Amino acid sequence: MSYPTDVEAADTPMWIAHKVIHQGAEATVTSGSWMGKSAVLKMRNPRGYRTPHLDRKLTRQRLSVEARVLGRLQYHNLTSPSLIDLDLEQGWILMSKIEGITLYDYLNSKEDSNTSVINSFGKIIRKLHEVGISHGDLTTHNVLIDNNGKLSLIDFGLARILPELEHLGLDLQVLNECLTASHSEFENAVNDMIAGYLSIDSQKNNLIPAKDVISRFNEIRGRVRYHA
Ligand SMILES: Nc1ncnc2c1ncn2[C@@H]1O[C@H](COP(=O)(O)OP(=O)(O)OP(=O)(O)O)[C@@H](O)[C@H]1O
Ligand SMILES: [Mg+2]
Repeated sequence: MSYPTDVEAADTPMWIAHKVIHQGAEATVTSGSWMGKSAVLKMRNPRGYRTPHLDRKLTRQRLSVEARVLGRLQYHNLTSPSLIDLDLEQGWILMSKIEGITLYDYLNSKEDSNTSVINSFGKIIRKLHEVGISHGDLTTHNVLIDNNGKLSLIDFGLARILPELEHLGLDLQVLNECLTASHSEFENAVNDMIAGYLSIDSQKNNLIPAKDVISRFNEIRGRVRYHA
């Protein structure tokens, strides 16, 4: 990856890549340092099966929504990486590094089936929804947990700003499917997620109430079961 030439020309490069920490289908994530602080660079990989025009359009859309969401979360003091820089044309975004592991790895290495962390997860999902954002890909791969048990949401390329009730309900359904498929040993996980979600309800005028989101989620769950 090449960082803008004016930056590279500086005596001390601002971005120093250390190692690739994730090589996925959509993106390659490299950890490194930005002006001496831990950072990650997420570079979107071109997808050969899409026409180059559509691919560039999707890349720009996903990166720009990710950057806008990170900005909003910072503004509202929600824990998430902070945005450092982005280049829509080259297809990368640079953000602070969260020290921790994915909730997926954390749950899979856990020896007991205590699900208080999933209750906390429900709470941060509600906080995200309360600031007018749906995630769009809410799996346990897209939440990081640090040594103190603090959770941070990541990966906002499919997020929506000002989502409809259906998008909020769908976030919970995607998580429900993930918990059922990948973490089935945590029997009470979905109920704990719901309890956490319902425990945060600011009841401001312009917000969709938490209980309405849960009703929609139950409706979507029912629809999916019916069609399965
Ligand atoms: N800010 C960050 N701090 C620490 N680790 C990160 C950060 N951002 C991403 N990662 C790591 O990189 C992984 C992939 O990042 P992300 O979820 O944003 O990409 P992705 O869109 O899912 O990529 P793909 O769809 O190609 O798998 C995360 O699961 C996490 O392990
Ligand atoms: Mg991801």
